[in-house]
Amino acid sequence: MKLAIVGSGHVGLVSGACFAEKGYEVLCIDNDKKKIATLKKGVIPFYEPGINELVLTNRRKGRLKFSTSIKEGIDNSEIIFIAVGTPLGEDGSADLSYIENVSYEIAKYLKDYRVIVEKSTVPVKTGERIKTLISKYAPGKEFDVVSNPEFLQEGKAIQTTLFPDRIVVGVETKRAEGVMRKLYAPFKAPLIITNLVSAELIKHASNSFLALKISYVNALARICELSGADITQVAYGIGLDKRIGPDFLKAGIGYGGYCLPKDVAAFAHISEQLGYNFNLLKEIQKINVTQRDWFVKKVEKELWVVKGKKIGVWGLSFKADTDDTRESPAVEICQRLLELGAHIQVYDPQVHKLQLSDAKHQIKFCRTPYEAAKGVHCLLLVTEWNEFKQADFKRLKKIMLHPTIIDGRNMFDSTMLQRLGFTYRSVGRN
Ligand code: UDX
Repeated sequence: MKLAIVGSGHVGLVSGACFAEKGYEVLCIDNDKKKIATLKKGVIPFYEPGINELVLTNRRKGRLKFSTSIKEGIDNSEIIFIAVGTPLGEDGSADLSYIENVSYEIAKYLKDYRVIVEKSTVPVKTGERIKTLISKYAPGKEFDVVSNPEFLQEGKAIQTTLFPDRIVVGVETKRAEGVMRKLYAPFKAPLIITNLVSAELIKHASNSFLALKISYVNALARICELSGADITQVAYGIGLDKRIGPDFLKAGIGYGGYCLPKDVAAFAHISEQLGYNFNLLKEIQKINVTQRDWFVKKVEKELWVVKGKKIGVWGLSFKADTDDTRESPAVEICQRLLELGAHIQVYDPQVHKLQLSDAKHQIKFCRTPYEAAKGVHCLLLVTEWNEFKQADFKRLKKIMLHPTIIDGRNMFDSTMLQRLGFTYRSVGRN
């Protein structure tokens, strides 16, 4: 089976490499000529554990190719995936212009029957719109539109694509269902066949529910601080109930990344358009945004006056094992502290530069965690990279101006740090 994937970003490239790994012939397409040229040289434009090897192996076996031509993909492939970005528009809706452009291009070159799969996260009824557009510009041509949302997690993208919890496929015809069943036959995961709209909704509902869990535990963390309880124990206690589950109950500085913030906002917007005011989603967003304020207040409480203070920061990506800083709570926290007049020096294992919007206030990047901690009034842990767990705290104490650590991910052992003489603050733990 031959596949074309339009959009070679995180989702497109990982999906393409994983399909190739399953033995399919995959053409990854992107209109960014520079990106395709880079990929052809074997260079991956982002950090994701295992992706380099997977791309390299499958290119060598001739199963994974790159191109800038959508026509080439349509001429040669049975299934065409749309995996382009759907950024957040100014009004909170998803910007579907890339999807629209690709649909138009598909219509232009469509000859024989093809299955067109929307893999990007899209608002409910986008599949219908794609269908209408293609029918309009390719009248009489045979095709089916399918919704097959991705659930990959950055940092574990290959594992979550090759071994997903479930595969969701929204179809309108038996013919398309047959093609998709054949495609996913080598994957050992429950395959859920729904109609188009339900599949689209499952994606929004899943991401929003994950965000709900995180905001719920973060709100609980604040109650813990106010009451003297410990969020780690509380989360463990509620997570052991099988109906709740232990995952996504880690309190911290709020969720970030390209998907969760955007998807919750877009889902709230769609719900309103459909005629339902989904206030719960707005509350999830509110808790998430104010969780950063909560953390910044902790810093202010420790330092009293932030202006002129030197602050070390460990981490910048929105979570560990990725170099992605989009909507990263860590970046936002740095930005707020810079606005308060702090000098920020950062170490992140994979993020080595970042241009902040305010040219006056910039972050200083360091080459080691110790360089970032040298001479600081306090150290913030904002991304839970494993490397930080292994830190030499005795060495750290010697190089910091004041041995104060504020842990936004509840990563460190408070007893150990206090024994070593650190002032240690975390989230929801007293
Ligand atoms: C998410 C979904 O998990 C995935 O299914 C979807 O396809 C894309 O969006 P991703 O953006 O890679 O994946 O990040 P995820 O692992 O979900 O984490 C999102 C954010 O929540 C991160 O900032 C993370 O640090 C935070 N988080 C996660 C918590 O604060 N607490 C938790 O318990 C879990």
